[in-house]
Amino acid sequence: MSSNLNLDDELVKEGMAYAEKNFLSENSHLELDKAFINQYYDLNGKRVLDFGCGMGGMTLWMAKHYQCRITGIDIDSHHIEIANMLKEKHGMPGVDFMLQNVVEHPIEEKFDYIFLNDVAEHIRPDYLVPIFTQLAAQLKEGGVIFVSYPPWEGPYASHLNRVIPIPWSQYLPDFILMPMLKKRNIRLVGESDLLGEYLQLNHLNHQMLKGIIDKAGLRIERRMSHSKINKIIKGLNLNFWPFRFLITKELVALRVK
Ligand SMILES: C[S@@+](CC[C@H](N)C(=O)[O-])C[C@H]1O[C@@H](n2cnc3c(N)ncnc32)[C@H](O)[C@@H]1O
Repeated sequence: MSSNLNLDDELVKEGMAYAEKNFLSENSHLELDKAFINQYYDLNGKRVLDFGCGMGGMTLWMAKHYQCRITGIDIDSHHIEIANMLKEKHGMPGVDFMLQNVVEHPIEEKFDYIFLNDVAEHIRPDYLVPIFTQLAAQLKEGGVIFVSYPPWEGPYASHLNRVIPIPWSQYLPDFILMPMLKKRNIRLVGESDLLGEYLQLNHLNHQMLKGIIDKAGLRIERRMSHSKINKIIKGLNLNFWPFRFLITKELVALRVK
């Protein structure tokens, strides 16, 4: 499969394999998101926005499991390119992918559900309030925004585990972390490399998210804080000190206040 943006063949292959895993397997890194959706929300007949859809695996998963019309929006041209290739390969109807910076070119449609799966921690800090404010305004009455992300206190929040397999590596002093990261830096499928991605993380945690959604006129309807302990005892929400340092993923459903 060839790329219009002249992406390297190896990166296209890697991106397609990653997105296909999210699309076709329940056991991808989005398994908690999928279980949360299946448990609480029925997307059948709904209008859905997958904000920060990346390479589109999760978008296609939703379209495959529910009869819904879904739009995936992302700011990264490489990701949207792969998403379109994946859609073409699997011939999924009812799915559109768009390359769009919504702060500069706001969304016009309204949606029943808006998903941000592993996106919020990547949004540049000055965009967070404008984006959540805009998304709140794009909800149909009774609509839900779903946000999942690894909170900054968590063991893998640095996103560096592939090359620096040290939990909580984000807390290493810069004079230790930066040389290691520069030496082990890798290309990513996308517009930035691993070092660039790390430097762009906004250090999102629950306190910070609460401040943002409050300004955006949203409230929390449901929160699930997942750590490894949940593998042993299901349904626990250990999101207080010191357990909050063990949380690998926050899953939060929001509604308009
Ligand atoms: C880790 S990826 C997650 C992709 C996908 N949601 C998934 O779970 O596989 C984060 C995505 O957020 C996108 N993103 C970051 N800031 C954005 C913004 N301001 N507008 C749209 N997408 C954004 C990035 O380009 C990237 O594709």
